[in-house]
Amino acid sequence: MNHTPVEGFSKMSKEGKIEWLVNEYLDGSENAIQILKQYWNEDPALQQLHDEFSENTLSNFYMPFGFAPNFLIDGELHCIPMAIEESSVVAAASKAAKFWISRGGFKTEVLSKVKLGHVHFMFRGNKEKLERFFIETVLAKLFKDTEAITKNMQARGGGILNLKLVDKTAEIEDYFQIHAEFDTVDSMGANFINSCLEQFAQTLKREIYDSENFTSEEKDSLQIVMCILSNYTPDCIVRAEVSCPVEDLAEGDVTSEEFVEKFSRAVRIAEVEPYRATTHNKGIMNGIDAVVIATGNDFRAVEACAHTYASRNGKYSSLTHCEVKDGVFRFWLDLPISLGTVGGLTSLHPLVKLALQVLGNPNAEKLMGFVAVAGLAQNFAALRSLVTTGIQQGHMKMHLLNILNQLEATEEEKNYFVNYFKDKTVSHHAVISEFLKLRGVKSVEELKKN
Ligand code: MEV
Repeated sequence: MNHTPVEGFSKMSKEGKIEWLVNEYLDGSENAIQILKQYWNEDPALQQLHDEFSENTLSNFYMPFGFAPNFLIDGELHCIPMAIEESSVVAAASKAAKFWISRGGFKTEVLSKVKLGHVHFMFRGNKEKLERFFIETVLAKLFKDTEAITKNMQARGGGILNLKLVDKTAEIEDYFQIHAEFDTVDSMGANFINSCLEQFAQTLKREIYDSENFTSEEKDSLQIVMCILSNYTPDCIVRAEVSCPVEDLAEGDVTSEEFVEKFSRAVRIAEVEPYRATTHNKGIMNGIDAVVIATGNDFRAVEACAHTYASRNGKYSSLTHCEVKDGVFRFWLDLPISLGTVGGLTSLHPLVKLALQVLGNPNAEKLMGFVAVAGLAQNFAALRSLVTTGIQQGHMKMHLLNILNQLEATEEEKNYFVNYFKDKTVSHHAVISEFLKLRGVKSVEELKKN
């Protein structure tokens, strides 16, 4: 089907946008309109709040919002909010929390908290002169010209930490950067950083144009390419770890030594094998993203940063590591992550506010710790299943419930099936045929008719 471009879509009313969308792409379906509207909040003010988070909003897209209790973190008990659509993640987190609660719990430490941004620019001319001019003349002015922007951040204990000129001409001809380091305290700091960077660019331009040190060719060659924060923050790092004597790790039929050997081997494989590292880290991100979303932070930034960090040595590798030393098993995650507990959605979205409240209204450093713990817990739970029972046992239990929900099974039927599959392998086919048998029908179509 051919579609025609639409003019002024963003300016149409919500109803008008829905009408256009449904007519153009959904065959004018009344049912489609009904589905979109079904998800509207009945409180118009709350709906408007959500509409205005983004643009061209026509409905709300629900995510399950769950809680994983019993997390002992740095000696305190916490209940971790998680917004995630994948089954088993919250259950796995809760299981790992329960496992570690009697083994000392999770420890966290923020190792560093530097955020970064760059003015990317081109300059053709004498590099040494540029370097000298930057240090002797420009540098102090960069700080001075951003005073109005940095005043509030400084009052909160942050601001610009360091600025330097970086020569990148070996990689791209005439390419330089102002590399800027910031402390943005409890905000993620994107607006603050980008505002500073744009001012740096103006200052640099002005100083070079006004200077007698540069030839007119050099002045004309100066081009600001872009001013933008970097989502890669390798010096904004939190460590989450668990440890316990090896003998405390015995599990059912598996001895503690056997468990540690299998577990360590799985981590080692993720350290050296990118195919496995990707899935291993994906499992870590299951926990991380869920808390990042629940607390109103930017999960795309967090993902991008984590994966760049995982490749920092030239080969994609595991974000978690483990060791056994003097009979003690230690498992940890070093996570570069930039989060905010003020600004953005944190004070706007009622569920985000609630999530932060459940976590005791943490500052950014504490939240970094909670997020890293969720990632580590998730990885521990996944590896523990993978090297012992296999992952499908737990997953298929959740899958069973999903299939039963699709079949609109009653609570009584669900209980019957959980019991029925206790000692059998769950498969889509096996669930459907047993369900048809139970309902006394021959096909899913017949089921739908009844
Ligand atoms: C599934 O979402 C995540 C796992 O694949 C992670 C892993 O394999 O470590 C279970």
